[in-house]
Amino acid sequence: MKQKLADIELAAAEVSQKISSEAELQHEKARFLGRKGELTAIMKGMGQLSAEERPLVGALANEVKQRLEELFSRRQDELRQQDLDRRLATEQIDVTLPGRRLRTGNKHPIVKITEEITEIFTALGFGVAEGPEVEKDFYNFEALNIPKDHPARDMQDTFYVTDDVVLRTHTSPVQIRTMLKQAPPVRVIAPGTVYRRDSDLTHSPMFHQVEGFLVDHHVTFGDLKGILTTFIDECFGKGTGVRFRPSFFPFTEPSAEVDIACVICGGSGCRVCGHSGWLEILGSGMIDPEVFKSVGYDPEVYSGFAFGMGLERIAMLKYGVNDLRLFFENDLRFLRQF
Ligand code: PHE
Repeated sequence: MKQKLADIELAAAEVSQKISSEAELQHEKARFLGRKGELTAIMKGMGQLSAEERPLVGALANEVKQRLEELFSRRQDELRQQDLDRRLATEQIDVTLPGRRLRTGNKHPIVKITEEITEIFTALGFGVAEGPEVEKDFYNFEALNIPKDHPARDMQDTFYVTDDVVLRTHTSPVQIRTMLKQAPPVRVIAPGTVYRRDSDLTHSPMFHQVEGFLVDHHVTFGDLKGILTTFIDECFGKGTGVRFRPSFFPFTEPSAEVDIACVICGGSGCRVCGHSGWLEILGSGMIDPEVFKSVGYDPEVYSGFAFGMGLERIAMLKYGVNDLRLFFENDLRFLRQF
C-alpha cells in the first residue's frame, strides 16, 4: 500500500511537469484526486487493512493527498504566470504610436463656397432667400424683361418642362419672387442650383449661382461698386484688383461685368486669364425700371442694383481647381482636400 502511494506520488510529479495547459491540468488532477481518481481509490480500499496498519496508511495517504494538491496548485500558478509572461511579451502596446485618425465627412467645395459668400453678405446686412428650381417662365424670363424673342430663351439654353415651365436658368427669378412679396427696402442674396443646356469642359448642365440685390431710396452705381469691391476683398483677399466692364443684361441698366486681377499671374497675363490679366467673376447692374414695374415698385421712387455669380467658377479660382468636372464626380480623393 505504501509502495503504491509512493508510485502515485512519483507519477503525479512526472505528469505535472508535462502539463502545458489549464485544461490538461484539470484533467490530470481529476485522474489522481477526483472521485474516481487513483488516490481516492486507495483511500476507499483502506477498509481492508488491519487495525494497526489503517491509521498509518491513512495518515500517509492524507499527506500524499495534500502534497499532490500542492503540486497541482503550484503547477497551476506556474502555468498562469507563463501565460501572463507570454501575453506581456506579445501584446505590447506602444503608447508613443500616433492615434488612428477617425475619418470624418467634410463639406463639398460648392457648399463651402456658398457658406463663405453667404457669411460675407450676411455681415453686410443681407438676408437669404430661396426659390424653386422648377420655375415659371414668368419669373425666369418675362418679369426680368427678357422678351419672347431673346436669345436666352432659345431651346438651346433652356430646359423646358412644359411651354410655360422651365428649369431656372439663373437665380434672378428669386429677385422677382422676393420683390413681389416684400416692399423696399430689400437687401437679399439667393444661392441656388441652376440649369442650362450646355455641357463641355467649362460648362455643366447643372451649376450654382448666388444672386444678390438691394433696393432702397437713392441707391446708386457707387453703392453697387462699394458692395462688390468689399465682397471681392473679403472673398479673394484685400487689395485684389477689380475692374467693372460695361455689359448688357435685359434686367439691368446700366450693366457691368466684374473682373478680378488674375489669381494665378496677378495681372501680368497667363494661360488661365487668356493673357488678359483679368478673370470675369460676375454680372451686375442697376435694376431695370421694367423689372420694377413688373413687381409693382415705383421706379421714380426706388432704385437698386443686382448681381449674379457662378459658384463653380469662383470656387475654381479661389481653391485652384482646374477642372469643372471634379465638382460633380465626387471623387473622395478630391473632396478630402477641402
Ligand atoms: N442672371 C445673370 C446670369 O445668369 C447674372 C446677373 C444677375 C446679371 C443679376 C446682372 C444682375 O448670367
